[in-house]
Amino acid sequence: MQLPAGAIIDAAPASIYVKDLEGRYLYVSPGVVAQTGIPPEQYLGHTDVDVFGPEQAARLRKNDQRALTEQVDEVEFFDKPVDVVYRSRKFALRGADGQIYATCGISLDVTAGYRAEQAQRVAERRLAQLQIVDSLGRFAGGMAHDLKNALTAVRSLIELAIEDAVQVPSDAPPDLRGRLLEVLGEAQQATLRSADQIATMLTATQYRRSERTATPLAAILDRVRPLLVTVQPAHRLVEDVHPDLRMLIAEGEIEQVLLNLVTNAAETTHDDVRVTIRARAVVAENTFSDVSSAQPPALEPGHYVCLDVIDDGPGMPPEVLERAAHPLFTTKRGGSGLGLWSAQAFALRNHGQLAIRSEPGTGTTVSLWLPAADTG
Ligand SMILES: Nc1ncnc2c1ncn2[C@@H]1O[C@H](COP(=O)(O)OP(=O)(O)OP(=O)(O)O)[C@@H](O)[C@H]1O
Ligand SMILES: [Mg+2]
Repeated sequence: MQLPAGAIIDAAPASIYVKDLEGRYLYVSPGVVAQTGIPPEQYLGHTDVDVFGPEQAARLRKNDQRALTEQVDEVEFFDKPVDVVYRSRKFALRGADGQIYATCGISLDVTAGYRAEQAQRVAERRLAQLQIVDSLGRFAGGMAHDLKNALTAVRSLIELAIEDAVQVPSDAPPDLRGRLLEVLGEAQQATLRSADQIATMLTATQYRRSERTATPLAAILDRVRPLLVTVQPAHRLVEDVHPDLRMLIAEGEIEQVLLNLVTNAAETTHDDVRVTIRARAVVAENTFSDVSSAQPPALEPGHYVCLDVIDDGPGMPPEVLERAAHPLFTTKRGGSGLGLWSAQAFALRNHGQLAIRSEPGTGTTVSLWLPAADTG
């Protein structure tokens, strides 16, 4: 029985197309037209550059060229006219004389499976990040707790020694008493500074698990502004924030996070550093290509508020940038290295992300991507 090839191609749930050696379409199946919504006459005699634009055409052309010498089996990403992921098989067509005159491609729409896989990868990555951040936090918290006990003992011993030093008789070698008191006084100051740092570590590593609620950004800024101006003068603190933004976050933590970020900017070596708090509504897309460089990786698609703290300070060299958000990493004397770590932990717990962009000489932008409230 002779099967009608045309009818089979017409019914096939696939996109089938033939292009000549210059990349001009010789044939498109009904599947191509249905998938793209572009009528056949816009294909026939035209190239991918005409139909899809130069960028997408360049991606397709590579596989078409390879198909002249080998069978190609590739995943192809379309972003125009719609986001589609194809599994494509391409091969050369030969005429009666054995010469190659065209390439043929058969593409199956695998978008749904690809999206599901991508969503799972994003969720797994977020979970892995959260686990690292949480366990490092627990580790730092445990360490802070032990240090606090050890330090209490050292402080009591120093106090006892000071009491003894006061008793040193006046016929002791000259100035022994003065020297003892001086050294012990310094030791005492050092323990007080450490106790402060440990207290910061304990607060940063302990948080209440609370419900996420729709929180207006304007109200947060009203609450935190009086604290911010204690670290950064008001005339060099700029706000560029849309008044209606609302985020879905747990209450009571973001104020400290913002204070940490503005403090970091204010603490740079740069005199007269200018700090801008900027916020805008953004959509994280389930993009197939690596087009959106501003979007941090491992972000579930959806509506976000991107809250930036931008400074024009000295920026960070790459080796600092890479470790800046690690717990206990600091380049500052007396720093605890918990500011960016706790900002990141906060973002991850709230289904967001922290992104840091920084270059020596141009300043730093720390972005909190937090889920927007009341958007679909
Ligand atoms: N805005 C910034 N500009 C330049 N470097 C920065 C900036 N923010 C952070 N850093 C670098 O990242 C490091 C880590 O910052 P982080 O806030 O986590 O800790 P810290 O500021 O050192 O200590 P603290 O726990 O007291 O905040 C800093 O020591 C600094 O080297
Ligand atoms: Mg800090």
